[in-house]
Amino acid sequence: MKRPILLHPDPRLKKVCASVDDLDDDLRKLADDMLETMYDAPGIGLAAPQVGVLTRLIVLDCVKEEGEEPRPLVMFNPEILAKSDEQSTYDEGCLSIPEQYAEVKRPAEVDVAWLDRDGNPQSETFSGLWATCVQHEIDHLNGKLFIDYLTPIKRQIITRRMQKLKREKARA
Ligand code: NI
Repeated sequence: MKRPILLHPDPRLKKVCASVDDLDDDLRKLADDMLETMYDAPGIGLAAPQVGVLTRLIVLDCVKEEGEEPRPLVMFNPEILAKSDEQSTYDEGCLSIPEQYAEVKRPAEVDVAWLDRDGNPQSETFSGLWATCVQHEIDHLNGKLFIDYLTPIKRQIITRRMQKLKREKARA
């Protein structure tokens, strides 16, 4: 089941989310719904607070090549264990901030640990777009958006555009 995606600005997108200690069927259903919502958008990552649930859960799939096997990842309690000194810059966007993009510099590689859909511990080193995406999504769990890396002026311009978009949507 698809879920509505919250749009910035929204106080729920600024909260620190709670850890999962009991991975039950409701949470698995939430993860499945989030993947469906992400693919439908379409996007490459989605965090639970973006669908209004303040729980440490993200989903992602950065496979972009046509014909390549999809790789949906479900991560409960994702944690960055190590970051590379090397940085990389991507033009980032966010499903909660549609049609707004800006360059963000982040560590080029990260080691991440998490619990998968079945509650099994996993870890992996991510690079390229996957590294950027997983960091962007984990930021969401700490109430941080990609625009928080921009200058206050750029952030304000994007926030004003979003306020206008939300007013228009509310009227429609
Ligand atoms: Ni986002």
